[in-house]
Amino acid sequence: MLKKLFGKKALNQVQLVGTDTKFEVGRNKTVLESALENGIAFPHDCTVGTCGTCRSKLLSGKVDAITPFGYTLSREELEAGFILACQAVPESDLEIAVDLGSAEAPVKTAARLVATRELTHDILEATWQTDEPIGFRAGQYMNITWPGAQGPRSYSFSCAPQDGGQTRLTTYIRKVPGGAFTERLFGEDLSQVEFEIEAPHGGFWLRDGEGPIVLIGGGSGLSPLMSLLEDAVAKGVKRDAILLFGARAERDLYCLDEIAAIGERWQGRFEFWPVLSEEDVAGRRSGMVTTALDEAIGILGGAGSLQGYLCGPPPMIDAGVAELTKAGVAIDDIHYDKFTDASTAS
Ligand SMILES: Cc1cc2nc3c(=O)[nH]c(=O)nc-3n(C[C@H](O)[C@H](O)[C@H](O)COP(=O)(O)OP(=O)(O)OC[C@H]3O[C@@H](n4cnc5c(N)ncnc54)[C@H](O)[C@@H]3O)c2cc1C
Ligand code: FES
Repeated sequence: MLKKLFGKKALNQVQLVGTDTKFEVGRNKTVLESALENGIAFPHDCTVGTCGTCRSKLLSGKVDAITPFGYTLSREELEAGFILACQAVPESDLEIAVDLGSAEAPVKTAARLVATRELTHDILEATWQTDEPIGFRAGQYMNITWPGAQGPRSYSFSCAPQDGGQTRLTTYIRKVPGGAFTERLFGEDLSQVEFEIEAPHGGFWLRDGEGPIVLIGGGSGLSPLMSLLEDAVAKGVKRDAILLFGARAERDLYCLDEIAAIGERWQGRFEFWPVLSEEDVAGRRSGMVTTALDEAIGILGGAGSLQGYLCGPPPMIDAGVAELTKAGVAIDDIHYDKFTDASTAS
């Protein structure tokens, strides 16, 4: 009342639905900025509206978008009420649903690259040794910098997490032509470089449930899916699963033995479908990986309780989200990490 009399509008409040967490958003601040100022482990990474990590669902209220959410979120997500908290300035009190499942604060630690293993002609496995142990959920990623780096690079862990954290971590990394970091990684000896790793980040992990799962990876997008599957096997998860992997040609397939080993230990139906987009090979599916989704969903018993997990290039994710929702999978049951880079952001 007093505020009204003196012409001062009260600050907008954000309620995180399903939790006791409520916070005020400062004038002209974004939901994410104020959440972080209030010590809330709100999922985020780029803070500029490109990675999608801060994706959350607006259940009530109105926000203004600094940059349109549609640059990063799909039509299906926008229609379902998703926003990007890092670009959302409240115009009223808000109710927001967000998965704070990994409230673990990221650790910053020095790290060295201790080994590399060639997986394909343009993807390698990098093994990192950190000074401090890092705890993470299977599917999450790290941010890495080095002296003189222009901003961090993100890489998803391919290894399964260990209780209490670990100091040895693996990632699958694809060479990006013209890329500042990956060109060096594939061309130089980086064993003497002092890197800094900050982790964990991201909201990509296996959600609870008993229904089937469909996983889609493209290129190095297999990295977090391997972590997630290894972890699920170790925990005795018993859900039917189909792993689709999109590659251009036979030479782009990798980890076939590791995937077969997961299949042998998986408690439920497990199928692995490589899909080649630029080569016809007897016994392999061909076309864009997302076109195989309908068949996979049918085999898994329909869209009803199915969850989708996607990782890799942004266009593959967008096509996958569109196919999954068209088939009837609820948008809330679709989880992804888009492997954006400097060219996406620009
Ligand atoms: C959440 C997340 C997880 C990821 N996980 C993985 C992973 O597990 N494995 C993996 O391989 N990758 C992953 N990535 C991608 C990774 O972080 C890097 O973006 C990628 O490795 C490229 O880094 P780079 O330094 O080599 O290339 P960059 O220097 O970032 O350049 C990338 C491309 O953009 C071009 N470019 C540079 N600047 C501009 C500009 N201003 N305008 C237009 N184009 C430009 C470059 O020529 C190059 O072709 C992930 C990304 C995200 C967001
Ligand atoms: S943190 Fe909001 S889109 Fe990256």
